[in-house]
Amino acid sequence: MVMYRYRGVTALVTGASKGLGAAYAHELARRGAHLVLVARSGDALRRVADEIREAHQVDVHPVTADLTAPDGVTGLIAELDRRGHTVDLLVNNAGAGAVGPFLSSSLQRNVSSVELNVTALMSLTHVLGGRMAERGHGGIINVASTAAFQSMPYQASYAATKAFVLSFTESLAEELRGTGVRVMGAHPGATATGFFDGTTATMNPAFIDAPEGVAVKTLDAFARGAVNSYPGRAVNRVASWVPRVLPRTTVTRLTGQLNRRLGLHRAHDLG
Ligand SMILES: NC(=O)c1ccc[n+]([C@@H]2O[C@H](COP(=O)([O-])OP(=O)(O)OC[C@H]3O[C@@H](n4cnc5c(N)ncnc54)[C@H](OP(=O)(O)O)[C@@H]3O)[C@@H](O)[C@H]2O)c1
Repeated sequence: MVMYRYRGVTALVTGASKGLGAAYAHELARRGAHLVLVARSGDALRRVADEIREAHQVDVHPVTADLTAPDGVTGLIAELDRRGHTVDLLVNNAGAGAVGPFLSSSLQRNVSSVELNVTALMSLTHVLGGRMAERGHGGIINVASTAAFQSMPYQASYAATKAFVLSFTESLAEELRGTGVRVMGAHPGATATGFFDGTTATMNPAFIDAPEGVAVKTLDAFARGAVNSYPGRAVNRVASWVPRVLPRTTVTRLTGQLNRRLGLHRAHDLG
């Protein structure tokens, strides 16, 4: 497959105000892509945009949007059209998840993570992917997780949303194979971001990857034409095979044990 060239394309990155999204934005700019950056926090988004403009000769357009609001995605599309932006590469990165025992976690946090990780991702893919298909070229990177490959007690709905992203992305990649529109899922493992902010949960420091390295590996894999990318440490990819060989119940017991060891069975939202 021909290497994807980032120089001169316009990439839209959701969840670009911090964490992995900001790292994707910086790395895309380093590779010469112009950017549309989307998140709810306008100030943080503008700070990321200013940093990128200082470091790279690319256009950067921050657009504030809440992708879980009823008109979040349609409003964003209308704003893109009003500003005349054509999106060549969509990076569906914005994501969130409830943590802790499902029945004692906030239903609202669970539901809004489904709206963000599933509904908004699918809606943006439908509209912007449709336009790419009409033009005969484009790219979509959907950020899932290593959580996509097995059920995860104490992150039950989060892992389920990421399983959706994995399945949806692989199907779409096959439907669009040969059309000029590339589709890839990225499956980072634990990454040093604010993902658990607002909860009591913490990540095991021995197994955390840096977002900058995850961004580099994701974009390299997409350029090569991969359908799935494992941009974290090598063991993540090996771990994604375990659920394919062990019985599902065994795997769920193991992930439950692991998450209990990390204290996620006691985790809850702060405030
Ligand atoms: N960190 C990890 O260990 C890890 C591992 C595997 C996969 N991932 C995935 O990587 C992606 C990025 O996560 P992260 O770790 O970088 O998390 P993060 O630091 O919490 O960043 C999440 C981003 O999403 C944006 N966002 C949240 N709700 C939004 C909404 N309703 N509308 C628009 N934007 C919204 C946030 O900005 P605002 O708050 O300003 O809206 C922020 O920019 C997610 O899909 C996550 O599931 C993370």
